[in-house]
Amino acid sequence: MSIQIENLSFSYLQPSGEKVDALKNVSFTIETGDFVGIMGPTGSGKTTLLQLLAGLRLPTSGRIYFNGEEINAKGYDRNRLRQTVGVVFQDPEYQLFATTVEKDVAFGLKESGLSRQEATDRVRWALETMGFDFEKVRNQSPLALSGGEKRRVAIAGVIARKPEILIFDEPIAGLDPFGRENFLQFVTERNQTGTTIIMTSHNMEALAEYTKHLLVLKEGRLIDAGATREVFTRLKQRYNGAFQTKAQRIAILLAEGKLMFSPAVVTYGDLLSALKQELTGGGRG
Ligand SMILES: Nc1ncnc2c1ncn2[C@@H]1O[C@H](COP(=O)(O)OP(=O)(O)OP(=O)(O)O)[C@@H](O)[C@H]1O
Ligand SMILES: [Mg+2]
Repeated sequence: MSIQIENLSFSYLQPSGEKVDALKNVSFTIETGDFVGIMGPTGSGKTTLLQLLAGLRLPTSGRIYFNGEEINAKGYDRNRLRQTVGVVFQDPEYQLFATTVEKDVAFGLKESGLSRQEATDRVRWALETMGFDFEKVRNQSPLALSGGEKRRVAIAGVIARKPEILIFDEPIAGLDPFGRENFLQFVTERNQTGTTIIMTSHNMEALAEYTKHLLVLKEGRLIDAGATREVFTRLKQRYNGAFQTKAQRIAILLAEGKLMFSPAVVTYGDLLSALKQELTGGGRG
């Protein structure tokens, strides 16, 4: 499923009557099977863009095409859109509402045409994919789960439909390193089986290591787009390092001869902790 965005703009109308231009004339194309990261400072329009991509808001102006068909045109099948795009928001726990985990994950399969048995198999697959023991968790209340578990149930509910496009808003914020690695491994696998992945993140390492392409938003404008490595290389020259990976910062400090270590650095572990200190504020960066 290829996605084409043309001159997309979106403005919020605040209760005071004031207009907030959250997206300004944004255009880009995402090819089938891509893994796209969206980065940009807080308030730059990332979540708004994802809501538009999922068909949850109407553009103020501009168009969105899936495989050449405009999704907001009269006659475009909304049910098909829901089957095509799966979206997990910043606080996915609010997406949970059923009395049991199994019912919650099964909810999205109602219009899928699957038989009862197929639906149960699919729910089992989705929950097991997200690391749950199906028999243990199926009758639990979603409300009784931890934050990280709720998030995994919400993701299971979305992947159960096997959408061609999976959209995640800040999926790894608040996950521990193990959960983060698990999640990124999981989306990489989905991507390798052909699912188009779009995710926002403030984690430069995750974006650099896992995405194929990047879109960079600033104040509602798309200020850069392209292959991940190229975008990071260009970003290096901007923002005083705010959007660099740690590896980039170390490379720059070394190149500029600014990385001075104490003579107490002897082992590889010493070196790593000295680098860590340099990167987390102790340094002159
Ligand atoms: N429901 C809303 N009503 C009015 N203005 C809004 C609403 N949601 C977002 N905005 C405004 O639109 C702009 C873009 O917000 P958006 O949530 O898309 O940013 P973001 O890039 O996702 O930020 P973050 O990194 O903090 O999640 C901001 O100026 C924000 O204040
Ligand atoms: Mg956001």
